[in-house]
Amino acid sequence: MTQWLPIIIATPPLRRSKAMKIGVIGAGFIGRAVAQLALAAGHAVMLSNSRGPQTMSSVRSGIPGVQVGSAQDAAQFGDVVLVAIPLEHYRSVPAQWLAGKTVLDANNYYPDRDGHIPVLDRFETTTSRLLAEHFADSKVVKVFNAIFDSDINRDARPHGAPDRRALPVAADDATAKAHVITLLDELGFDAVDAGTLDESWRFERAKPAYCVPLDKAGLKAALAAAERTVELPPAERSRT
Ligand SMILES: NC(=O)c1ccc[n+]([C@@H]2O[C@H](COP(=O)([O-])OP(=O)(O)OC[C@H]3O[C@@H](n4cnc5c(N)ncnc54)[C@H](OP(=O)(O)O)[C@@H]3O)[C@@H](O)[C@H]2O)c1
Repeated sequence: MTQWLPIIIATPPLRRSKAMKIGVIGAGFIGRAVAQLALAAGHAVMLSNSRGPQTMSSVRSGIPGVQVGSAQDAAQFGDVVLVAIPLEHYRSVPAQWLAGKTVLDANNYYPDRDGHIPVLDRFETTTSRLLAEHFADSKVVKVFNAIFDSDINRDARPHGAPDRRALPVAADDATAKAHVITLLDELGFDAVDAGTLDESWRFERAKPAYCVPLDKAGLKAALAAAERTVELPPAERSRT
């Protein structure tokens, strides 16, 4: 008589599909945090800064497995390319480097750091719309802007974990947005579709959803509670 033994299938730490190449323009706090997360999930990552790979030996040694290159190298390398630089510099990245690519936009507007951008001060557009106008031949997806760098690796959880955090995602291109939602799931986060780039003001700086750890339901509520011209101080955001 055949004896059937129980087969125990270990749940993988994170869901994986095809390994991707992720280029990162900006090797600062957020670029490095996303790079670590993506490497842990089995993707290949190239980081870059404005000064060149010769300035990145500590980045290379601090993040095992990461590749470094020029910003143009990282743009060329990536199936998707994360742009994570101070917003004031977005026009310094030539649009043709990213033509045809999905661009992950993690950038936020801080007037004290970036200088005043009147159309943003008047709430007439969104930071991601500005990027999309510059990277006119790319598919811009706003993601990773509403989580602190220090939370990225700490809060990532396997698919289905009860305490999994959700992150907001916005894009005009539905296919690119769906790919990024799948990538987020692999990396350890649920996603809430927050609409188009014109609607992405709902999770810009100083909105209820900005950098507050929330599950899907909480994030949906925070996005719905956002008011276009109301900027909350950090203490109120964390209570929302
Ligand atoms: N830190 C966070 O928790 C956080 C969270 C969410 C979103 N964000 C947003 O993400 C963006 C980056 O923030 P961060 O805190 O990571 O900044 P950061 O630590 O100051 O790092 C900025 C990086 O961008 C690079 N850079 C600037 N201009 C560049 C260019 N033209 N080409 C290539 N690299 C360039 C800098 O390189 P050099 O040093 O060589 O100039 C540096 O590596 C900001 O828009 C920020 O608001 C930050």
